[in-house]
Amino acid sequence: MAVNSFPAGFLWGASCAPHQNEGNNVNSDMWALEQVPGSSFTDRSGDAVDFYHRWKEDIDLLKSLGLNSFRFGIEWARVEPTRGNFSVAELAHYRRIIDYCLAQGVEPVVTLHHFSSPLWFVKEGGWSSADAVDRFGDYVDAVCPILHGVTWVATINEPNMFAVMYQMSTPLQYPDPAAVLQRMREAMSPVNGEAGINSFSMPEPKEEATQTLVRAHARARDILQAKTDVKVGWTIAVQSLVARDGHEDKLAYYERVWEDTFLEASRADDWVGVQAYTSQLVGPNGLEGAPEGAELTLAGWAYRPDALEIALRRTALVTGGVPMIVTENGIATADDTRRIDYTTVALEGVAHTLGDGLDVRGYLHWTFIDNFEWVHGYEVTFGLVAVDRTTFERTPKGSAYRLGDIARNNGAGIL
Ligand code: BGC
Repeated sequence: MAVNSFPAGFLWGASCAPHQNEGNNVNSDMWALEQVPGSSFTDRSGDAVDFYHRWKEDIDLLKSLGLNSFRFGIEWARVEPTRGNFSVAELAHYRRIIDYCLAQGVEPVVTLHHFSSPLWFVKEGGWSSADAVDRFGDYVDAVCPILHGVTWVATINEPNMFAVMYQMSTPLQYPDPAAVLQRMREAMSPVNGEAGINSFSMPEPKEEATQTLVRAHARARDILQAKTDVKVGWTIAVQSLVARDGHEDKLAYYERVWEDTFLEASRADDWVGVQAYTSQLVGPNGLEGAPEGAELTLAGWAYRPDALEIALRRTALVTGGVPMIVTENGIATADDTRRIDYTTVALEGVAHTLGDGLDVRGYLHWTFIDNFEWVHGYEVTFGLVAVDRTTFERTPKGSAYRLGDIARNNGAGIL
């Protein structure tokens, strides 16, 4: 069904993550992994895009483009660099970013955990240890006092991907991280060499890991609801899985293991973040990589701007209608015209879901500025804005202006 306008107050924005943008996240496990000789990381995060110092400039730029919302994260490894020692100065740093967003009328969407954890935590057994949920809870508790005025908080980013990531790297057995890297490399190498790192090329999340993260999320939600006025959710990688004819039972299996348990845990939340990039087929041999001849993005994923609509519909079905925010959607490409095409079709998909009465509150593009794309490093560019890696000068691409125009008109441009 067609929709005449996007809802009033719709969030139009872009997302980033601490480890990928701040730079010098030296007390984190990811930083440690990057330093290991022979690491599977193409680059080291290093200064990243120096968001730690340039956050004000970035918020100003985002606002000047016409966007009204910004997703960024708080880095646990900075707030609690050693166990039990919470940094007042780092909490104040993040509070300044929140204050500035609020003062500028830019709605902050704050993530508390985005793949990276403190190195001390991981050395003590990390997410596999018996007290992981307590340790995460302590951190969340410490962050509560800086969240006043914030509406949207995500506890854990992509728990369904992270469950697998930490299984592969935990315990990060220092002093032998090289063995961990080898395991990661083996586990993550694409089966057909072209599928990219997505669920197709990763081992499945084990039930134990899934349940740990579900418990960590529930603990964080309890703490946040008791101590703040924020709306709590988490952000799920929804893979827009589609069955080949006759393989619906296999599809049901993959949906359960990869997504549904996490989405069902959202039913008690105030909102859920939907993150979609591509769509994957499930056939006789399970999850398939990009189909033969498909246009591939720099991440090795099939170009599927319709994936977002599929993901929103699936999320609404499984959660029973919990309000949704698109917290990530985008494309890794060096050809910005393809980013504009992709985003336009993805937003048309959002409009279709709104027309059918789905409760979608916002669209935050991944990502604002070309950043540290994990193992792929800096060459795989998802950004609306380019960055000079030496001067850190930001240059908006055509796609940034286009999304800003759409935002200024509350979606009128794509309806
Ligand atoms: C993650 C981001 C990542 C993006 C593109 C999501 O899985 O949350 O950190 O950069 O996808 O790969």
